[in-house]
Amino acid sequence: MKVYGPLLEKYSDIQEISRDLSDKLLIAVDICRRAGQIVLGHFEGEIVAEYKGDIDLVTVADRKSEKFIVEQLGKLFPDHLILAEEGSGTESGWEMNLKKGYKWIIDPLDGTTNFTHDYPHFAISIGLELDGKVIFGVIYSPLSNEMFVAVKGMGATLNGKRISVSTVSSLGISILATGFPYDRRTNLNNNVENFSKFINKVQGIRRAGAATLDLCYLACGRIDGFWELRLKPWDVAAGIIIVEEAGGKVTNLEGGPFNIYRDDILASNGYLHEEMQMLLNNDRVPLKTS
Ligand code: IPD
Ligand code: CA
Ligand code: CA
Repeated sequence: MKVYGPLLEKYSDIQEISRDLSDKLLIAVDICRRAGQIVLGHFEGEIVAEYKGDIDLVTVADRKSEKFIVEQLGKLFPDHLILAEEGSGTESGWEMNLKKGYKWIIDPLDGTTNFTHDYPHFAISIGLELDGKVIFGVIYSPLSNEMFVAVKGMGATLNGKRISVSTVSSLGISILATGFPYDRRTNLNNNVENFSKFINKVQGIRRAGAATLDLCYLACGRIDGFWELRLKPWDVAAGIIIVEEAGGKVTNLEGGPFNIYRDDILASNGYLHEEMQMLLNNDRVPLKTS
């Protein structure tokens, strides 16, 4: 535990959790921070991007960050599964859900389009699943040096201080965030219609280009609600637990339980959930969840 001593002090409230879990958490925090330094190193130099799809980019920074994270986790936890966006983990198909044991879910650089355009908003995200349930999430924004952490049942923190969602309870005074899927040019279900349902009802909608940070910003009250279509497990695994542990609510668009492998996401401070759900579902009465 010596190596992680200073981190442990900073995240003092996580000392209450089991030693084994806190060891894993502190390792994740440390790896995330170091991956952030790798990404930052590339942000300061020339950025060369390749196309994975029509408009979906990948850079050397995505790959180097992922290689570092996967190697570190692989060395420390050789029997754990790793699902990483750029494909270097142990898991190739993200559709495959519900495996027993530990599974790390990694977005080595969320906000690659921002990163490629010198737009300073991106993050590294690491979530840990046990038997199909996310038990902690760590998201690090290297430019703002903000480390968001949450452990199931233990609350959420930003740089070691407790955070909670906003108390805004009316859409009219809210700020929401969303994003648009990479296949938006060819798939008509591209979120534009949803966007137009909200735009005149709220104070603002942000499309900041990093879903992990949208969820963190919701968790600490900078925005009040978020929805998006066709995100992948690595975009949301860590973020949903950060939102929930900060007192927010996460469901699918219909208000049912959210599955990171399958569903479109609706996340809010709780107060706005029903109103957002109604709008997204053309005023159909929302499903009742807890
Ligand atoms: C993307 C970002 C973006 C969201 C996209 C994601 P990437 O992740 O989170 O905000 O709208 O759908 O794929 O590709 O930068 O890791
Ligand atoms: Ca992402
Ligand atoms: Ca990514």
